[in-house]
Amino acid sequence: MSSKHIETQAIRTQIERSQYLEHSSPLYLTSSYVFEDAEDMRASFADEKQRNIYSRYSNPNTSEFVEKVCQMEGAERGYAFASGMSAVFSTFAALLNSEDHIVSCRSIFGSTQTLFNNILPKWNIATSYFKMDELDTIESLIQPNTRVIYAESPTNPAVDILDLQRLGDIAKKHGLIFIIDNCFATPYLQQPIKFGADLIIHSATKLMDGQGRVLGGVVVGSSNFIQKIYLFSRNTGPALSPFNAWVLSKSLETLAVRVDRHCDSALKVATFLESHKNVNVVKYPFLKSHPQYELAKQQMKLGGNVVAFEIKGGIEAGRTFLNAIKLLSLSANLGDTRTIVTHPASTTHAKIPEDVRLETGITSGLIRISVGLEHPEDIINDLKQALEN
Ligand SMILES: Cc1ncc(COP(=O)(O)O)c(C=O)c1O
Repeated sequence: MSSKHIETQAIRTQIERSQYLEHSSPLYLTSSYVFEDAEDMRASFADEKQRNIYSRYSNPNTSEFVEKVCQMEGAERGYAFASGMSAVFSTFAALLNSEDHIVSCRSIFGSTQTLFNNILPKWNIATSYFKMDELDTIESLIQPNTRVIYAESPTNPAVDILDLQRLGDIAKKHGLIFIIDNCFATPYLQQPIKFGADLIIHSATKLMDGQGRVLGGVVVGSSNFIQKIYLFSRNTGPALSPFNAWVLSKSLETLAVRVDRHCDSALKVATFLESHKNVNVVKYPFLKSHPQYELAKQQMKLGGNVVAFEIKGGIEAGRTFLNAIKLLSLSANLGDTRTIVTHPASTTHAKIPEDVRLETGITSGLIRISVGLEHPEDIINDLKQALEN
């Protein structure tokens, strides 16, 4: 029996039971599968049969994970990858030809920027960028060879919100593939296919795993695009391991309850920060003061688990604040049970020229908090003592 509820889809989507009638899906650690006879083998390789051949192509655990994400995102088909970045790279490598062109939001994950700026140009694939608050410039960037519009919302690390419906309409009008990295929101908070997205990419490493254990990625969307991505990946080998797929599929069963709690605590943290004298600005999509609050409310069920704020005193104040943190973690990940605090200007984005940094909202005093599942009082107390240090 199918359900329209994500919570049920994430729990009740399950591969067929084995002869042992296990309740919870077992782990299929196998690299290959056997055939009945020569004809079965021939027909399987000729794609006349839908069955597992080799775990680089498919595996019961990866199929279960992908099917769950498809149901939750409302997508036709998908493929799972070893990391979020292998999902991003394989999508572009599979769908684009040399001399093609991408139009992308400037505020995207650092490695995706490196892919667009340093790697895809090897195949003469160029990218033009629009600022997150200048969507009216997008159409002027579109060229005859443009194939894709790409964006993230909320953005990393400044948690700005992009109007997905508007992007979807522009993509449709110009016949472009509309791709959204939905990793900050998860399908529980936002389903970009409803706004016209053709493909959704996730770093499953973040809230999908949610416990800081495994790397993973997934792309879901229209069958015709996924078939190309599948054929590219089946031959080039970025597949997710069955073990990580098993972990991620189990994690999805608790995604809704975890994300509810993450968002509840994030709003409490954002509200606390907004009232603190050593804080200039707080950015959280579900704070009334967020510049795109109304849009966030329309597109997202809740505000997500990332809060950005600007500490008074710039880079030096940011460093002092990080050094005073006691309970929370200084780490590069996000979407973990453990709250993580980062200062992008002195760490992840230190090599980016200041003018480019500022264009994407990364001011010198910007601190990003990935709010975890510790008691919110403990998270707030640690932030408070570090701010007052
Ligand atoms: C928005 C976004 N997309 C993609 C990635 C890359 O994912 P992974 O680290 O799983 O390769 C990240 C990682 O932080 C991210 O934040």
